[in-house]
Amino acid sequence: MMMGRLHGATDRPRGSKGDIFRRTVGLFHPFRYAFAALIVLIVATSTLNLAPALLIARIVGEVTPDRSGLIQGSTRSLTTLFAIILALYVTSGVLDVALGYINQSIGQGVMFNVRANLHAHLQRLPVRFFTATRTGEILSRVITDVNMMQQAVSATFTDFLTNLVTLVVALGFMFTLEWRLALMALVVLPIWVYPTLRVGNAQRRLMRAWHQEAAEMSAHLEETLSVSGSMLVKTFGRQEHESDRFLSSNDHLRRLSIQRMMAGRWFNMATDLFGSISVAVVYWLGGVFVLGGDVGIGEVVAFAYLSQRVFTPFRQIARINTTVLSSLALFERVYEYLDLPVEVDERPDAVRLEQPRGAIEFADVRFAYTPRGRPAIDGVSFEIEAGQMVALVGPSGAGKTTATYLMQRFYDPQEGAIRLDGHDLRELTLDSVSRAMGTVMQETYLFHTSLLDNVRYGRLDATDAEVRAAANAAGLDAMIERLPDGLDTVVGERGYRLSGGEKQRVAIARAILKDPPVLILDEATSSLDSRLEREIREATATLAAGRTTVVIAHRLSTVVAADLILVFDRGLVVERGTHTELLAHEGLYASLYREQFSEQVPAESSRNGDHAGSTPAGRPREGAGR
Ligand SMILES: Nc1ncnc2c1ncn2[C@@H]1O[C@H](COP(=O)(O)OP(=O)(O)OP(=O)(O)O)[C@@H](O)[C@H]1O
Ligand SMILES: [Mg+2]
Repeated sequence: MMMGRLHGATDRPRGSKGDIFRRTVGLFHPFRYAFAALIVLIVATSTLNLAPALLIARIVGEVTPDRSGLIQGSTRSLTTLFAIILALYVTSGVLDVALGYINQSIGQGVMFNVRANLHAHLQRLPVRFFTATRTGEILSRVITDVNMMQQAVSATFTDFLTNLVTLVVALGFMFTLEWRLALMALVVLPIWVYPTLRVGNAQRRLMRAWHQEAAEMSAHLEETLSVSGSMLVKTFGRQEHESDRFLSSNDHLRRLSIQRMMAGRWFNMATDLFGSISVAVVYWLGGVFVLGGDVGIGEVVAFAYLSQRVFTPFRQIARINTTVLSSLALFERVYEYLDLPVEVDERPDAVRLEQPRGAIEFADVRFAYTPRGRPAIDGVSFEIEAGQMVALVGPSGAGKTTATYLMQRFYDPQEGAIRLDGHDLRELTLDSVSRAMGTVMQETYLFHTSLLDNVRYGRLDATDAEVRAAANAAGLDAMIERLPDGLDTVVGERGYRLSGGEKQRVAIARAILKDPPVLILDEATSSLDSRLEREIREATATLAAGRTTVVIAHRLSTVVAADLILVFDRGLVVERGTHTELLAHEGLYASLYREQFSEQVPAESSRNGDHAGSTPAGRPREGAGR
């Protein structure tokens, strides 16, 4: 839903039914040989299953006295006929098992591919997609919708084929038995096509609505039952409000489900009734033909047997048809995701940077989050030499975070270029860019796994010893000793079991382990006690030494130590220089300095060998720039 708004697409189905159908058929292409085998098996089982009708006609014929009152058959010939019928049914049953296996393999294979493609595609989607779409909604499509697609593919599709083949074969047999009765059936059946399609369309619409609501509900649950969500609900005492929201979704789902079940009920009832009546009609008209002497009783009995066999698949085709149509809605939803543009993509001739040095250049970069929105970066140029430390400062909303996103190629700029070691980021492999960059952000994301694995995420092939060393270097050792299972402690979803400072140290440990030539840091603005802050500062200082460091700076010590300060304001770099130069300039930086930094003890920022310096504890710092 959100994506629809974002990309100017509508919530209405985009492709025509034909397109979706063609595309779905395309999914079966890799399985075409298995599919051919499936069709052969379906034809074989259906034929074997219906052939006994002809033998039944023979049996009845054998025991019915002819005009002269003679009975042709013998016990022996009846037994032979019975044995053949038995063999036919057993063979058909055995083939049916093989059919089921092939059917499942195809269905699961198709879904395996869909799920793999979907996951691969979602990973390539720009950050824009994730900021605009709720997690619950994505999960609902990837899990629920794909699972239901699977059911549609493996059950409905073969059922449909089986019934279709049965219908055709049965009609064929009926024509060989008594063409006038068969003709009647052939005339009556197509009348059913139109209402079938109508019902199918209605169910498809309801199905789509149902899935949208289900996704809505799972997104709502995801939001309110996650750790931060539930805390938000509790702080504002919004439990009742959330229950009401949930109830309305819940109620909507209930109504949609009932409507979906009831759509076509009358129609199905009519079809059932028609099936029963038609058998009576066969006996009636068949009886008339027998009286006329053109047809044997055997043929009429076999015909009645077959006509029941015709209406069962026909009824099911009518139903399956509606399921197929409504499952098109599912396919549609999944295709919608598969069709989202990747935006940040790797060129086929992308260059791999073996040893990035870490020089960064912005050349007249312009970038807006939305096509018609105000640019967040509005024509910015600067150069950062390898190994330099650069501080980004500026008022809130000035574009500092955005600039660091662009460096990491979360987005591509609309104009200008961002270069790493002289290469436009768009000419490099995605892997080269991500290998070159390490980040320590204010919000550290942790997985619900052990501390060890969380740190190891920085470099997956690191040994336990290396992970430990990185954790120690980040100053995690004291905390690890306190934890019950040390590094093996599971940190809880998003790391809620750790304090803000501890989480940030995990991020630092990750970056130490990764050892990237470029480090991007967002200094904490709050939440750390002074001792902790000093420790973190020391840890980051170790990390920053010897690499290009881009810091969104909130600390005096950082700006004083920076080789270059870039002052951002409303998407522009309005001033640049060192701390001393900028102070002398008496511009935006000077006033920012007076607001944010001056109350931090300036004397303490005297150099300490490393960039970030070391400010003694004792003074809580302001939430700068916020
Ligand atoms: N995902 C987004 N979609 C649309 N607009 C965005 C998005 N993220 C940020 N913006 C807008 O872009 C502008 C720059 O935001 P940015 O986060 O870069 O500012 P900042 O300088 O980092 O501010 P702060 O100091 O408060 O962190 C802001 O006007 C913000 O509203
Ligand atoms: Mg920011």
